[in-house]
Amino acid sequence: MNTHSFAFSFLKKPVVTICLSLFCIATANAQAVPQDDHIYQGLGQKEGLSKIVDSFVSELLADQRIAHYFSKMDRHHFTQLLNDQFCELAGGPCKYKGKDMSDAHEGMGIGNAQFNAVAEDLQIAMEKNGVSTSISNQIVAKLAPMQRPIVTQ
Ligand code: HEM
Repeated sequence: MNTHSFAFSFLKKPVVTICLSLFCIATANAQAVPQDDHIYQGLGQKEGLSKIVDSFVSELLADQRIAHYFSKMDRHHFTQLLNDQFCELAGGPCKYKGKDMSDAHEGMGIGNAQFNAVAEDLQIAMEKNGVSTSISNQIVAKLAPMQRPIVTQ
């Protein structure tokens, strides 16, 4: 063994140990945040979602039970926010940056009947765009916790 290889064998173990540790930490971290995007895939990713949201907003505006709430809406802005919100909820690669649901609907006097009408319109929009019942039910289930902050009467 020459001087060089002696020095190297001396270093080898700790280097291997450090590398393995770093690898373990990296993979452990990767495993800690599994990204389940099956709902996002089921909605047809960004393109499918965009069609669903367009249909959804059209349904809202045509729904006599709730259309009056949206008379002053900025459709482009609202559509953008819904795309991001649903994408994030579905496990897709987006971040919703709008208001939280309580602030967004404050003072609107929304009841359970209106909330259910909106959920129904979303289901109709998904059905019209060929989303499976299973995926449709899963995304609607993700909206359920929003009932509390949105419904104020
Ligand atoms: C799960 C149900 C609902 C979801 C996910 C939802 C989502 C949203 C989002 C993301 C915004 C935009 C927030 C922002 O401006 O930063 C918004 C605004 C709004 N929402 Fe909802 N909402 C829901 C239920 C309702 C209901 C039941 C009504 C009334 C019937 C309603 C009426 C409105 C109106 C009028 C706006 C303001 C639109 C504008 O002027 O741009 N929402 N909602």
